[in-house]
Amino acid sequence: MPTPEFTLLQSWHHNAGAWIEAVRGGTIESRRQVTDQAIVLAILGRQPERVLDLGCGEGWLLRALADRGIAATGVDGDATLVEAARASGAAQVHLASYEALVEATVDIGRDYDLICANFALLHQDIIPLLAAMNALLAPGGALVIQTLHPWVAAAGDYQDGWREETFAGFKGQWQPMPWYMRTLSSWINALDMADFRLAGLQEPQHPQSAGPQSLLLVAEPRG
Ligand SMILES: C[S@@+](CC[C@H](N)C(=O)[O-])C[C@H]1O[C@@H](n2cnc3c(N)ncnc32)[C@H](O)[C@@H]1O
Repeated sequence: MPTPEFTLLQSWHHNAGAWIEAVRGGTIESRRQVTDQAIVLAILGRQPERVLDLGCGEGWLLRALADRGIAATGVDGDATLVEAARASGAAQVHLASYEALVEATVDIGRDYDLICANFALLHQDIIPLLAAMNALLAPGGALVIQTLHPWVAAAGDYQDGWREETFAGFKGQWQPMPWYMRTLSSWINALDMADFRLAGLQEPQHPQSAGPQSLLLVAEPRG
């Protein structure tokens, strides 16, 4: 029986084409209205020169940062998404799974001023990956994570555990994706276990929406 982590990455191999269309077509309203801007502003606020975008997907954030003069490198585990990011002009995009990053079998550079992960930490045991990212930060660097807001995503069942995203309402053929729901304390504990301290927390919200659109965490190595 495949692990949920295996099925998760497999779902991206299957969904890559539909995902590229959805992101580039601007069809995900929460992104267009709130979360894209939230992560860009959180990154710009730290004035980084070199950024690593972990789980960069088709590369929209790499392009947004490059437009603002930031040297942005991407890494993702899906070959179609990496190819799309490269073809759209993103300078450097590595193909590597999170497992490979934990085992450090791929060289994706180091001494980044900032590492960001936009809706890209979807698996259960994120602590080894966060610890591996901690080691790639330059002194004074930071980690910026934007993720589903746990209180909204919990849908009445506020506890850690695997869930399934069916992409209902998205156009095209999608394979369901397992993802790991994490409570707020679970996020903060994971950062702590990877030797980060929480330096900032935001709950980006649209004025006309009833709840937050995401949770945005800024963390710094404890050093
Ligand atoms: C929801 S998408 C977000 C993509 C991008 N950050 C964005 O904002 O559009 C999640 C990304 O995580 C990547 N991913 C998921 N599991 C992975 C793994 N085990 N190794 C590498 N990448 C993975 C997927 O390929 C996908 O690009």
